[in-house]
Amino acid sequence: MKLKPFRIEHYYAKYEFTAQFMLSSSDMQSRSVAELLALEPDARERFDALWLGYTESSGAPYLREAIAGMYSGISSDDVLVISSAEEGIFLVYHALLGVGDHVIVETPCYESGLELARSTGAEVSPWQRYFEDGWAHDLAALEALIRPNTKMIYINTPSNPTGINMKPEVFAAVMDLAKERGIIVFCDEVYRELEHDPSTRLPAACEVYENAISLGSMSKSYGLPGLRLGWSASRNRDLLEKCLHFKYYTTICSSAPSEFLTALALRQRKILLTRNLEIVRRNLPILEAFVARHESLFSWVKPNASPIGFPRVTIAGDVTDFCEQIVRETGVLLLPGGVYDQPQHVRMGYGRLNMPEALERLEGHLQSQNLKLEP
Ligand SMILES: Cc1ncc(COP(=O)(O)O)c(C=O)c1O
Repeated sequence: MKLKPFRIEHYYAKYEFTAQFMLSSSDMQSRSVAELLALEPDARERFDALWLGYTESSGAPYLREAIAGMYSGISSDDVLVISSAEEGIFLVYHALLGVGDHVIVETPCYESGLELARSTGAEVSPWQRYFEDGWAHDLAALEALIRPNTKMIYINTPSNPTGINMKPEVFAAVMDLAKERGIIVFCDEVYRELEHDPSTRLPAACEVYENAISLGSMSKSYGLPGLRLGWSASRNRDLLEKCLHFKYYTTICSSAPSEFLTALALRQRKILLTRNLEIVRRNLPILEAFVARHESLFSWVKPNASPIGFPRVTIAGDVTDFCEQIVRETGVLLLPGGVYDQPQHVRMGYGRLNMPEALERLEGHLQSQNLKLEP
């Protein structure tokens, strides 16, 4: 298996734990263990008494039940718990794809969506979206990519890096195209439930199509990436069983404390989501006004889900150099779009409480640069 360097994670590894302001994070403001335990009256005692043995490989039954409860028509046997969505992407691709298969991947996307597909030896066709088209999904282009050996279509909605939710008619059409041909849909839904207007939420792929796998995570909408916990849900249990056989070789089972805290967080997820939606709804207009004030520098399709957006940057030089200079001089971390093969873009995040302060710092820097540029 050959893997290219993971550019997104590599860039983050360089700065994430030293930069003062995270202005590009795709995960929501987090919480402490104590804050989470305070959400249920006797949680502290139950957590203290937790047995630290191995857990069931498919996930603790009480946790699978809590996850299944988030969907309609999904039972706990339709859920496989995994140690992060990242593990899920690895398992699904490697358990279900190989040489001779063809997979279509919506791009630009989180890098493992593309590179882990390639690492299986399957042929990979990007289903490319373009900023110039408002990041629209071209269904005719998708249909033209389908081959007799197309085994899987990977989509990601709401999307990283655009922060845009797929239109319902596009989602339905993708499902129909796949259903008609028996193609598996692997739907990365890690930003689900963070639609800025909850009435725009799409059904989960696993609810509408038997051969679809929905990928979920505690990292993004719920703001708990330190739990390293995710899940795959599908009504096709054979697909999950194949993933489980791979999981025996990756993590065997998930972490018992994480399973406990995840089940608690999911039971109380309305509280988490209410606070997280408050943050994005407060921050996004501030970011929108910033983009408008600097319209000669930034242009974007305003995001409608998740805590990220992906503006185009109009500068003479290299955008990665621009981002590196900003983080060195101001401590504000942006993610250069080159890591998504979109070198004219930057990913910005608005899921942190201190976003207004971070933006102010960035704006001060941009203004000082302009002053320097003036004769
Ligand atoms: C679309 C997408 N899928 C999966 C992941 C991985 O998430 P996790 O933290 O659960 O491994 C990310 C993280 O950025 C992501 O953006």
